[in-house]
Amino acid sequence: MPINKKSMLSLFQIFIISCFLLPLAVSAHSKACSFDAIYQLGDSISDTGNLIREAPIGTSTAFARLPYGETFFKKPTGRCSNGPLMVDFFASALHLPFLNPYLARDADFSHGVNFAVAGSTALDTSSLAKNKIIPPVTNSSLSVQLGWFKDHLKSICYTSKCAHKLERALFLVGEIGGNDYNYAFFQGKTIGEIQSYVPYIVQKIKDVARKVIDHGARTVVVPGNFPIGCMPIYLTAFRSDDPAAYDELKCLKGLNDLAMIHNDNLQRALKQLRKEYPDVTIVYADYYTALQWVLSHASSLGFEEKSLQKACCGTGGDYNFDLTKMCGAPGVPVCPDPETRVSWDGIHLTEKAYKYMADFLMHSIMPEIQCHI
Ligand SMILES: *[C@@H]1O[C@H](CO)[C@@H](O)[C@H](O)[C@H]1NC(C)=O
Repeated sequence: MPINKKSMLSLFQIFIISCFLLPLAVSAHSKACSFDAIYQLGDSISDTGNLIREAPIGTSTAFARLPYGETFFKKPTGRCSNGPLMVDFFASALHLPFLNPYLARDADFSHGVNFAVAGSTALDTSSLAKNKIIPPVTNSSLSVQLGWFKDHLKSICYTSKCAHKLERALFLVGEIGGNDYNYAFFQGKTIGEIQSYVPYIVQKIKDVARKVIDHGARTVVVPGNFPIGCMPIYLTAFRSDDPAAYDELKCLKGLNDLAMIHNDNLQRALKQLRKEYPDVTIVYADYYTALQWVLSHASSLGFEEKSLQKACCGTGGDYNFDLTKMCGAPGVPVCPDPETRVSWDGIHLTEKAYKYMADFLMHSIMPEIQCHI
């Protein structure tokens, strides 16, 4: 069939559409991210120095000492890793400084505040006490952190400028809830009992996210739980001789299932919240998939395959972890190359693992908040 002028034209039109209009359709919703501040609520996954400022227990925790912080900061900062955390990588990607902890009273909070406290729970201490669960290091649960946020607003909101500031801020509510499960497991609750706590923990996260929105937040990211069955602390405590207890990444299935139940519940709660607040951007951050992605691409990312499940800082057993001799205790060794390990201390990840998780998450989150970095 001879190509006539008409079909040439339509081919040309198709070319035009695919080269120009499709990218335009995408970029119409995608502008450079221009967040002016980050406000973080959470636990040790994002604490940049609050717990170590809580006397008398927090100040004497291992996180206040080397080797915590040794790789990047060359000194302890209160971060539960050898270097920066995911929130630090998010801040850098948005061209913002690292967030100062709220309890560093004289710090610069012009680009946001970190309210996260290592060891904190989603549920209040009083609710946990009803089930005889005691948070061992802090009582600064999610509600306490929300109270700090409200106090902080009082100190910065004397003018209407405040609403504008919060509109241009990124709010991170979590990860939180992981410790509610940790304490329940290590204080002798059964998996059945623990599963029954899921709706309460998720409800609390949802309530606090709602309150943050009611105070003016317009972009809220709510992370889910990690695949906790991949953590040396759980792998050590719940090790099994039954190969069927482990999944293809050699993680404990039952524990990962619990994390998935939590995450499914949380995503349903966020769906409801989006209906309540159609003008607010509410995003789920999939920490579960992000860590699984890191683990399943470990060798190409530069992690040592044979010690993939071994803590870098720790001692003993198959996972280099001993609950009675943890990282920071006298005589506990640190691996020579932390960048080749995923787990830093058996509970928290290395700077390197957090970096890759943060990269993975930013790729999925940025389109949802309609901007790019
Ligand atoms: C938490 O509060 C309880 C009750 O007020 C108190 O006994 C406990 O010492 C507190 N725990 C911490 C870690 O501050």
